[in-house]
Amino acid sequence: MISKPVIMVNYKAYNESVGKRGLELTMNIEKYAKGNWVVCPQAVDVRETVGSTELPVFAQHIDAVEPGSHTGHTLFEAMVDAGITGTLINHSEHTLELWQIEFMVEKCKSAGLTTVVCANNPVTSAAAAALGPDFVAYEPPELIGGDISVSTAKPELVAEAVRMVKEVDHDVGVLCGAGVKNGEDVKRALELGTEGVLLASGLVKAKDLKTVIAELESGLPYLEDKASSGQTSTQQ
Ligand code: G3P
Repeated sequence: MISKPVIMVNYKAYNESVGKRGLELTMNIEKYAKGNWVVCPQAVDVRETVGSTELPVFAQHIDAVEPGSHTGHTLFEAMVDAGITGTLINHSEHTLELWQIEFMVEKCKSAGLTTVVCANNPVTSAAAAALGPDFVAYEPPELIGGDISVSTAKPELVAEAVRMVKEVDHDVGVLCGAGVKNGEDVKRALELGTEGVLLASGLVKAKDLKTVIAELESGLPYLEDKASSGQTSTQQ
């Protein structure tokens, strides 16, 4: 079970997140973050990451195949063996066919893993919600990797995605992503009704991780509330 609001970091295939650099990124998140974070390292680093952090570790992608005669696939059973807590599904940089999304959501459900199905607009977000994942992440592809966040550039579409997903299934959490880089982006995303953000370049490529992590967390009301009530924040 992933606590909300959540900040999910997709390490993608950036040079900055290869091997040791990815492990250091995870260590820094664990060291400096106070809220609920999830990390999605590169596939080859998943097992080592799981072994070196208490943070939930997700796969970025898993292939929709059963164990057997396949070559070069990332197998669900192998990712489970490596210790993942959940997985992204259908990221716009690794899209799947509908049956493959459903296949993976069902596999994860049967193993008690958390699913985040990505979608490129409010309508596909609602369609993804119909498959019953834990989260739908709305990410407009044209804003991915850019400097303007989805919550600033397309607030009405974020709100629309939230509305449409909740209409289909109120229990499905909604995230948004693309261009999220600071606390204001996070704050706006939450104000629009999402339960967290999915981000990559803003943190993976950052030079000063401590500052960027604190900046992103400045948008979490959960932490603000704790600070004002004098409680110490703890990882959920
Ligand atoms: O999965 C997160 C993502 O696609 C957003 O990427 O670099 O715009 O934060 P970025």
